[in-house]
Amino acid sequence: MTIARIAILSAVFVIAPLALTLDAQSLDYGVYKNQVQPIFLKKRPTHARCVVCHAGANNAFRLQPLDKGATDWTEEQSRKNFELVSRLVKPGDPDASHLLKQPLAHTGGGEEFHSGGRQFATKDDPDWKTIADWVKAGK
Ligand code: HEC
Repeated sequence: MTIARIAILSAVFVIAPLALTLDAQSLDYGVYKNQVQPIFLKKRPTHARCVVCHAGANNAFRLQPLDKGATDWTEEQSRKNFELVSRLVKPGDPDASHLLKQPLAHTGGGEEFHSGGRQFATKDDPDWKTIADWVKAGK
């Protein structure tokens, strides 16, 4: 076997599966954009929307500000949000994910304090679950 062949074969059998594994471990942008991100815009009874406090916020959950008059983020803004939000979660492990713990009621397993209130009373909240499923699938 020539060196070139060995190189090609190792590319196919070693590098390709490795690339696939790495890919499978990353968070899904499509799911983020279509299912997770809308939650940040959604009005919840008795609570302000995440975006109201977190657009341009000075804490780690800093969403892009919406354009004037816009009701949703542009593609470019969504990508930036995705990158930032990805850093607040631990792919595969929703319970270790800051994004999910901070707004969850302490009695429901979340953090003790969130200035934005108990956005999610328990882990049975459908929106909490949507985010958790996205994080879980990231492994
Ligand atoms: C009324 C304003 C308000 C709303 C609404 C709000 N938050 Fe917050 N949130 C804050 C403030 C202020 C902080 C920083 C201080 C703290 O942790 O309480 C914060 C912190 C956080 C953090 C931790 C960021 C860090 O720096 O560690 C996360 C994650 C978070 N919020 C998620 C959410 C999610 C998700 C929603 C919507 C479901 C939401 N918040 C709604 C005000 C809000």
